[in-house]
Amino acid sequence: MSETAERIDWSSRLARRTEGQNSVIGGILALANASGVINFTGGFPDPEVFPTDSLAPIVDRLLTGDVQVALQYAPSEGIASTRDTFGELLRQREGRRPGPGELMVTSGGIDAITLLAKSLLDPADAVVVEEPSYLGAVSGFGAFGTTVRGVPMDEDGLDVDAFAAMLTAGPRPKLLYTIPEHQNPSGRTQSLARREALVRLCRQHGVLIVEDVAYRELSFDGSRLPSLWAMDPEITVQIGTFSKTIFPGVRLGWAAGPAEVIAQMAVAKQNSDQCAGALGQRMVEEFIRDGLFDAQLVRERALYRRRGEATVRSLRAHMPAGVTWTEPTGGFFTWLHVPGVDTTELALSARERDVAFVPGASFFAERVEHEYLRLSFSRISEPDIDEGLRRLALAIRG
Ligand SMILES: Cc1ncc(COP(=O)(O)O)c(C=O)c1O
Repeated sequence: MSETAERIDWSSRLARRTEGQNSVIGGILALANASGVINFTGGFPDPEVFPTDSLAPIVDRLLTGDVQVALQYAPSEGIASTRDTFGELLRQREGRRPGPGELMVTSGGIDAITLLAKSLLDPADAVVVEEPSYLGAVSGFGAFGTTVRGVPMDEDGLDVDAFAAMLTAGPRPKLLYTIPEHQNPSGRTQSLARREALVRLCRQHGVLIVEDVAYRELSFDGSRLPSLWAMDPEITVQIGTFSKTIFPGVRLGWAAGPAEVIAQMAVAKQNSDQCAGALGQRMVEEFIRDGLFDAQLVRERALYRRRGEATVRSLRAHMPAGVTWTEPTGGFFTWLHVPGVDTTELALSARERDVAFVPGASFFAERVEHEYLRLSFSRISEPDIDEGLRRLALAIRG
């Protein structure tokens, strides 16, 4: 470079649609391993339950006997035997096996969201999410210039009447994205009556449901309501991930839905990562085929139940009057309302006390809300949960 040439500001050349896109998730990931901080930020599984002992012999087996598949490129829709295993898992759990072309392997949950967005959304389209919602979905759908609308929720999940009013007022959104179980960030689960009403409404208006079942297997007592996909597979794409239940380092999940949508998602995958990593697909497949998945879930439910219950106990013990929270029955999260406090500012004073959480504002697609925050209790020891919430309460009291 010549000494006199001016430095080019590349930020002025970024695509117009990136304007206003921020990196909340990047911030969460950067904080993930900060030392000395009691970290309630990311929805991370606890490494304590990573199944290292059972994975070691599986990897060994694959590296000796399956190199041609496990270390090779894979079909975009996934390795046939892996799809077969996931299909069987769905049959056992949901009472329905995806038909031909109705199932593909994805590189985790966020990949499924991106593939759906690439396959279904034009800039003039609208997508509806419950508010608050997973910020990876809010920004993932918004990244394509699509309008992301929000529907409120309450203790029973998405407010179906409010959604019905939105549909009547028009225009029809391309899809509705919902997390029926132990929702990120609110921890809430959609009731059976709401599920039935939602499926009826979406069928009546011809709206595709995208149900994200990231935390479905992680109810503290092992129970689960019928999935939306099981209730009406013709209008639902179920997306799932093994990030929370096996480990996220593998980046593996699935999408099950109408064959024409899945086929287009597989095409979209060809110009993103082309295929989910074959080694990961075969590892997870063997893990499930060896019958290890259920025992893994039992360990996880017990651990996260202890953490969830400890969180609620400590919130009761430490929080000032007026602060309210959701009581989780599974998953990783509880959602706090701190009246009169801007939680983005609170995050700064909390950091001075070495405690971190995610401010609620970025979980909203439409509404402007500053008084909420998300706590993830999944990978904090019970003593640290108590100490962290004691410090957070001090920060709230100012
Ligand atoms: C609801 C929900 N969906 C999807 C994901 C992302 O899953 P993955 O890590 O497999 O991309 C997350 C992770 O936080 C999540 O909470």
